[in-house]
Amino acid sequence: MSDLTATAVACANIAFIKYWGNRDHALRLPANPSLSMNLDGLTARTTVEFNERFQADSFILNDASTTSKGEKRVHLFLEEIRRLAKSNLFAHVESVNTFPTGVGIASSAAAFAALALAGSAALGLNLTEAELSRLARRGSGSACRSVPGGFVEWQMGAGDLDSYAFSIAPADHWDLRDCIAVISAQHKTTGSTEGHALANTSPLQAARVQDADRRMELCRSAILQRDFTALASVVEQDSTIMHAVMMTSQPPLYYWQSATLGVMLAVQEWRRSGMPVCFTIDAGPNVHVLCESAVQSAVTSRLQELPGVQRVITARPGPAAHLISAK
Ligand code: DP6
Repeated sequence: MSDLTATAVACANIAFIKYWGNRDHALRLPANPSLSMNLDGLTARTTVEFNERFQADSFILNDASTTSKGEKRVHLFLEEIRRLAKSNLFAHVESVNTFPTGVGIASSAAAFAALALAGSAALGLNLTEAELSRLARRGSGSACRSVPGGFVEWQMGAGDLDSYAFSIAPADHWDLRDCIAVISAQHKTTGSTEGHALANTSPLQAARVQDADRRMELCRSAILQRDFTALASVVEQDSTIMHAVMMTSQPPLYYWQSATLGVMLAVQEWRRSGMPVCFTIDAGPNVHVLCESAVQSAVTSRLQELPGVQRVITARPGPAAHLISAK
């Protein structure tokens, strides 16, 4: 091992107010602010070593080498770290996901947050949390939200310098649970990066963006006051507005499957009967079912009974990205 090595761990996150569409694709400057919760236990653990002996960058994910697309993305990100550190050393990156494999949950957010921290620490850059969040954003927009801990807001900012995320409440502020109803483990056909580029082809995107500050305010105060009823209403509306944009893009993006809608309707029914539960859906068919801890086991067993639900994975609010070892 050389001296220029570091290992970092970062959680995935689930957005309560979604990031969809960019003002600047290269810099990943978002069209709207967003808000999320880190997911404890769903992590990427990444080791980066820079070494003058290396002839090129290399990348191993879960003990196997990755696709050329994934490798190019990591290489471009390492270029950014080298630019910041004024270094010309190549790197070897090894990353292990602790997500259950084969369930269709892969997270570029956890991956790039861990890579930003391990890579910058390995080259001796002592970045502030905001600087680290900005850096992670360049790899994957939502990764900037996996740098701070707990409940996290990504302010859009006027440009590269002030578009980063910060914590609005620590992980122990509210014992919410994310019960992920896994509907398909298939790899999605259109990834988020391509999806963001289509957002403006929907006539609904302008309205979604224009209304974003209102939804952010409702969501932020629901979290700060631990008001589940208020949270449920804004989280479901925000998710469905994003999917309306996706479905009306050109070409249209339909991430829902029929089982997805089945879970959505069941969750709303359970809430009407008094259960603190709501749903949110990212760029895939799986449904993230949020609830208070007291009902987590009831929610999990009910979800397992629904048609098309293969399994349920649960997570609590998670911590900030952190270093495991740095020499
Ligand atoms: C639907 O952060 O994955 O999950 O910047 O291209 O990597 P890239 O996109 P990504 O987009 C996330 C989209 C979303 C909503 C969200 O997490 O806010």
